[in-house]
Amino acid sequence: MRAGASYTDSVEVNHQIVVRRGHWTIQPRPTGLPPTDVMLTVRFLAMSAVIEIDGLRKTFRTLRGGARVALDGFDMTVEAGQVHGFLGPNGSGKTTTLRALLGLVHADAGRMAVLGRQAPAELPAVAGRVGAIVESPQFFGNFTGRRTLRLLATAGGVPHERVEEVLDQVGLRDRGDERVKGYSLGMKQRLAVASALLKQPELLILDEPANGLDPAGIREMRDLMRDLAAANVTVLVSSHILAEIQLICDHVTIISRGRRVLSGPVSEVLSGFDKGEYRVRVAEHERAAEVIRGAGLPVTVHDDHFVVGDLADPAWVSETLGGQGMWIRELTPLTPDLESVFLQLTGTEPEPGTHKQVDDAVRPGAEHDLSVTVVEGEAK
Ligand SMILES: Nc1ncnc2c1ncn2[C@@H]1O[C@H](COP(=O)(O)OP(=O)(O)O)[C@@H](O)[C@H]1O
Ligand SMILES: [Mg+2]
Repeated sequence: MRAGASYTDSVEVNHQIVVRRGHWTIQPRPTGLPPTDVMLTVRFLAMSAVIEIDGLRKTFRTLRGGARVALDGFDMTVEAGQVHGFLGPNGSGKTTTLRALLGLVHADAGRMAVLGRQAPAELPAVAGRVGAIVESPQFFGNFTGRRTLRLLATAGGVPHERVEEVLDQVGLRDRGDERVKGYSLGMKQRLAVASALLKQPELLILDEPANGLDPAGIREMRDLMRDLAAANVTVLVSSHILAEIQLICDHVTIISRGRRVLSGPVSEVLSGFDKGEYRVRVAEHERAAEVIRGAGLPVTVHDDHFVVGDLADPAWVSETLGGQGMWIRELTPLTPDLESVFLQLTGTEPEPGTHKQVDDAVRPGAEHDLSVTVVEGEAK
């Protein structure tokens, strides 16, 4: 069955649908469960994984004869229809993962599958359904965008009408007759995406598409990915820039030092880090903080406010302080964003006075207590 295709089947009495790791089977119900007395017709979106990576390992030999562990048993699952953010600091192993998946570098160990086929061995069978930009593609500067795409279309057996469609899709329709050397970086990125879209892929893999783009270019790239998602293309997009990813992705996998440290739907990842914290501003904030702390809640005092955690009902704070004649000026929930989650997990927040170096990420599991949400594919 095609990933993401909708499928209709019926389940017999005393049988059940079992969904595990994105695959489903119909099995007899275990005895002991109450019998169902109706014939159910079930229609659901099969959540077959489009990309599956299990225990991927890669160590590079360095020039000085040393070893550099790029991937240390990395796992990732991307389901059909997701816009999946692949996040991690520089040097954490994102590009190596994507290159291994596409057969551009040989992995030492691990199991990978793309669209249900073993990768990279069986990739040729699904190559026409996958578009990828991992190494920044080199185009002939003297060719126009349109001519570049026509050449690629011819080489790939794609009709030339498709060139006009993808030019339109990436917003280059009116600039297609200009030479590529006159293109901005953002336009070159669009041309690269256009080339990856020629074969109408079901899966698009983009490695750091926002790299080197100005804010306007990033916004355009984001809109483009949104359009693709709306057209049912599964998108895997890697980035070390968080703010942008949070706005476009519905799922994330966070990598640090070659290992997955967290994955799941963005909303669940964020709610998992929600500590029920509120920022409280009040005239005598230190005295107020003492009152709240006295009630047993965790309180951190700052210059002109304090932060209280574990707060189920904010009204309790206003009631308690109001009861002592202290009137609150501000009571704001501190909901986590992806940026703060990412910093907590990968520890790449710049320290004042130092320059953060590549590979300075925190080793997962070491000094950080992680709450990891691993989400299995489920029938919807
Ligand atoms: N060809 C290579 N030879 C040696 N080391 C490499 C090579 N490619 C990547 N690495 C190392 O592997 C680690 C992961 O790199 P990479 O996958 O490019 O990270 P990311 O894409 O997340 O920035 C880094 O420490 C990098 O220096
Ligand atoms: Mg990279």
